[in-house]
Amino acid sequence: MKNNPFIVGLDIGTTKITTVIGEIGPQGTVDIIGEGTVPSEGIKRGAVVNLERTTHAIKQSVAAAERVSGVRVSHAYVSVSGHHVRATTSHGLAAIRRNQEITAADVERSIENARAVPLDPNLEVIHAIPQEYVVDGQEGIKSPVGMHGVRLEVDVHIVSGAAGPLANVRRCVQEAGLTTEGFVLQSLASGLAVLDAGERDQTVVVIDMGGGTTDVGVFRRGNLAHSASLPIGGDHVTADLMQILKIPVEEAENVKRKYGAALPELADQELTLEITTAAGVTHAISAFDLARIIKPRISEIYDLIRDEIDKGLGPVELVAGSVVITGGGALMRGVSELARERFRLPIRIGKPRGVSGLTDIVSGPLHATSVGLVLYGATHEHADLSMDQLDKAEPKPVPTPTKQPTVTQTPPEPQVVIKSEPKPEPKAEPKPPKVRTGPSLGERMKNFFKDWM
Ligand SMILES: Nc1ncnc2c1ncn2[C@@H]1O[C@H](COP(=O)(O)OP(=O)(O)OP(=O)(O)O)[C@@H](O)[C@H]1O
Ligand SMILES: [Mg+2]
Repeated sequence: MKNNPFIVGLDIGTTKITTVIGEIGPQGTVDIIGEGTVPSEGIKRGAVVNLERTTHAIKQSVAAAERVSGVRVSHAYVSVSGHHVRATTSHGLAAIRRNQEITAADVERSIENARAVPLDPNLEVIHAIPQEYVVDGQEGIKSPVGMHGVRLEVDVHIVSGAAGPLANVRRCVQEAGLTTEGFVLQSLASGLAVLDAGERDQTVVVIDMGGGTTDVGVFRRGNLAHSASLPIGGDHVTADLMQILKIPVEEAENVKRKYGAALPELADQELTLEITTAAGVTHAISAFDLARIIKPRISEIYDLIRDEIDKGLGPVELVAGSVVITGGGALMRGVSELARERFRLPIRIGKPRGVSGLTDIVSGPLHATSVGLVLYGATHEHADLSMDQLDKAEPKPVPTPTKQPTVTQTPPEPQVVIKSEPKPEPKAEPKPPKVRTGPSLGERMKNFFKDWM
């Protein structure tokens, strides 16, 4: 496989499966030549729950990308996320003989020692990412080979996944006709795709807000230093709307995408929706009140991220310089403004970069992971390629084929009527919709509704 000009990224998400085919150009560029996206089936919170359906969806997505590119592919880098993923940072040490230079074998030994932490036998190591090295107490060394010293230390970020869920993914990929070239943590792939050269020099939090999971990666000088996969994402927002407004899931999804906002202040203040519940009752809800339902869930996700970083590294505003949000959740109005309130750091929305070719198809946050998988494969298989160099490469867009390659996942039109008249004078308190605060919504929702009562 090495020096193969075609690199394939297969992002198996909770809501969509995307295949991206990249070709290494003669000038050292990564040209995107094929893409295929289909709605995901058989995946729940990052894990396969139905082998046949997942296999079928992978096949469709790969076939769509192959049709666009005109090449047949056999290997793919596959995304990993979900509850079964564990990440830990472990310390490794290697003694160096007096008066001898540090060799690549010494570096390898220090990493191996860090990896020797006893892992649960059901876990499989996905990544062992060395951070900066310390030689005789001197910190911040990127490449210690050739240096003198007697004590080489390194912290290694070890990401592992449960053997069962990984085997299930491998099997689906195989049944779909491909070999898994490697598993790549979703946040690592997304970070590779969205961070710019300046951010690769600092400490940045990358948040990939997907459907069933939110993947968090803290990148320190371009290296993944801390990661977590939280089993909560945009689909929970949809479920909240479904439950509170008592509408079918497709409609809740549509209402969320079209009119949702993470901050009530940023919702369309003129807009009122008339929604007919499954029981046939029609009621009105302003976009402002819709955002009041959405905000607590997104805030909850941000608070979980803060806690996670706090546990691993310390207070986020002290350890990181900025936050980059990507994934489908990043498309909602107000997510960056709410994040700015929550993290008190500069925030931006991350889109894939560093590639040429069909850039118009893969230019949005939805493609961060799939493009990142291709970039991961390209930089691992081709030692002469680096992210800094790819970033500088002039993008050469290729005209989009007239026939769209993707199978869209746009849900049907919502059963809502938009009342175009301006909202009446602001009310002191929004009128509470008739809702049932069921236990499944938990404490958070109770708090939210306190001021509606
Ligand atoms: N325009 C939009 N506004 C708000 N949310 C959106 C929009 N478009 C997509 N989403 C949400 O983004 C989520 C899907 O994001 P994405 O495609 O990154 O997830 P995934 O990769 O399939 O899932 P995961 O990474 O969790 O396995 C869904 O919850 C969807 O509702
Ligand atoms: Mg995803």
